[in-house]
Amino acid sequence: MATLIGKCSSLNAIFLTLLLLNAPFPSHSADPDPLQDFCIADLAGGVAVNGFPCKPASNVTTEDFFFDGLIQEGDTNNTFGSRPTQGNVLAFPGLNTLGISMNRVDFAPGGLNPPHSHPRATESGVVIKGKLLVGFITTGNVFHSKILGPGQMFVIPRGLVHFQVNVGLEKALIITAFNSQLPGAVIVPLNLFASTPAVPDHVLTEAFQVGSEVIDEIKSKFAA
Ligand code: GLV
Ligand code: MN
Repeated sequence: MATLIGKCSSLNAIFLTLLLLNAPFPSHSADPDPLQDFCIADLAGGVAVNGFPCKPASNVTTEDFFFDGLIQEGDTNNTFGSRPTQGNVLAFPGLNTLGISMNRVDFAPGGLNPPHSHPRATESGVVIKGKLLVGFITTGNVFHSKILGPGQMFVIPRGLVHFQVNVGLEKALIITAFNSQLPGAVIVPLNLFASTPAVPDHVLTEAFQVGSEVIDEIKSKFAA
């Protein structure tokens, strides 16, 4: 009897362990939590594993915690009529190891922040000026979108392809925030049609089910 009870409880223990291993644990923030108050990035420092080495604390000044880089309106005189200005760790080393960053994106009337995704972060944003159609597509190919005005916010779940387009008659401006110090951006048209070296035409003709003249025409639009 005692052996039977013993067998049952070890079976229960195995079952419980398997259950725990399969339990859906809550996800953690995109970047690791800091282990110190701050770590102002030494961008010219040596080996970096995940983030940058810290500037010696004795050289840190108040200025390291402030950033003016988002004051200036971005130049939207380009193919897409939009300009993201990044406030990530490369521009603002004070963000190093803190797991956050921000952008400003300026739009000319009709300007498009083209379909792109951030492999390392969820994005949230707020419209400061103008009227924009904000949209993203899920992994199940469901398209969610809405026209937003000043003060309205949006969220783009991590890694999903999204865009914003100015549907107003005036310039527009959004401020975006990320749960990564370096979210990365895969800009879909440039990624596929302007990579170095180029993605072979036969991959693109098959993927998009068109002739090579269509692919060549698209590639020519993004040629440097
Ligand atoms: C907007 O989508 C941004 O990446 O800042
Ligand atoms: Mn984005």
